[in-house]
Amino acid sequence: MSEKSIILLHASELLTGAGIRAKDGRHPKEEDLGRIPNGALVYSTKTVSYTDFTTGKSGKKVVGDKILWVGESEALPSEYSGSPVFDLYGRNAIMPGLIDCHTHLVFAGNRASEFAARCGGASYADIAASGGGIQTTVNATRNATEEELFRLARARVEDAHRYGIRTIEAKSGYGLSLETELKILRVVKRLQEATPELEIIPTFLGAHDFPKGADREAYLIEILDEQLPAVAREGLANVCDVFIDEGYYTVEEAERILTRAKQLGMKTKVHADELVNTESAAFAADIGALSADHLLKISPAGIAALAASETTAVLLPGTAFYLKTAHAPARALIDAGARVAISTDLNPGTSMTSNLPAVLTISALYLGLTRAELFAAVTYNAARALDVHSRKGTLEAGMDADFFVTPYATFEELYYRFAW
Ligand code: NIG
Ligand code: FE
Repeated sequence: MSEKSIILLHASELLTGAGIRAKDGRHPKEEDLGRIPNGALVYSTKTVSYTDFTTGKSGKKVVGDKILWVGESEALPSEYSGSPVFDLYGRNAIMPGLIDCHTHLVFAGNRASEFAARCGGASYADIAASGGGIQTTVNATRNATEEELFRLARARVEDAHRYGIRTIEAKSGYGLSLETELKILRVVKRLQEATPELEIIPTFLGAHDFPKGADREAYLIEILDEQLPAVAREGLANVCDVFIDEGYYTVEEAERILTRAKQLGMKTKVHADELVNTESAAFAADIGALSADHLLKISPAGIAALAASETTAVLLPGTAFYLKTAHAPARALIDAGARVAISTDLNPGTSMTSNLPAVLTISALYLGLTRAELFAAVTYNAARALDVHSRKGTLEAGMDADFFVTPYATFEELYYRFAW
């Protein structure tokens, strides 16, 4: 239930992003940012319950509900006089809350020694082939209690909030068994119950790898007949993702999994064309996936397929940086008309960071994206990749009160300052 309204006054600039929504995120341009100098925003609040899983402490928190009005400070409607005012004195820019639409938020352990081995010349594939990589994290995650996983992931959620992230996706995928995949998704649910100031969107990724020593077909059947139905029955996620790549899942296997997910009423996503080209971006477009993610090795045909589809291209430049590989063809994707989002890919193997602004710095420098393209990539377009764009991604009356009062006077200072 909505309670009182709060006014933010005298923002150095307020960027609504309304023009980006109007073009559904394609070809974002400077004039689409809806820049309002000396901006103001009015939002309603609501009181929600929270429960901290580790301490058992529960209580109430007042959080933002809906945006009521945005405009120039001088034009603030008189109906809001009397509401509490936070004056920003022209020091801070306000923008839509950042949306991190691809993370592997819940895992135990770390892979610092594998990172050191990679720095010494070993490749990601070498490490995976010798039993490390995703399997290292699967072992640590299976051995961790639900409480340990919660504590570790909550620290990452707190980091994300500090970086301006107000919506974060969280994939399972370091369990690779019915029991541990459900454990991870229950942790995601408990994270949401503990931190109502962010929205956490769970994605089921039981097809992240095959469990060590498992029969391939037997594990596929387990996903189809046990994991997916259990996730749907318990309402733990309504999005299903598959890692299609050499050494992981084939397009045909992904099709079986995602077809079953759709039968269960779930939406779909694909880890596509990351390590080698498998034409999985075109496959994602074909099956109507919300997004095709990674795309380091996407082909011209894949670019054309995404551009002609409703599937968002999610780029993860922190991963290319961390693996020292060539970046995704962002310019070609945007110029072809694809809707491009950017995310951290937070995970212990290929992108150990929650710092989405730092990923924007990499994107500005190495993908050559403009200010408008970067803005769209972590707001509306990321909301589109999670199918929450009817509520999030722009600062307009009626949208969720998800905003980021940045520490700086302009949006570009977020990524001009490197890894702050
Ligand atoms: O998104 N691509 C697949 N999965 C992760 C990496 C997983 C890992 O190395 O732990 C990714 O990059
Ligand atoms: Fe990923």
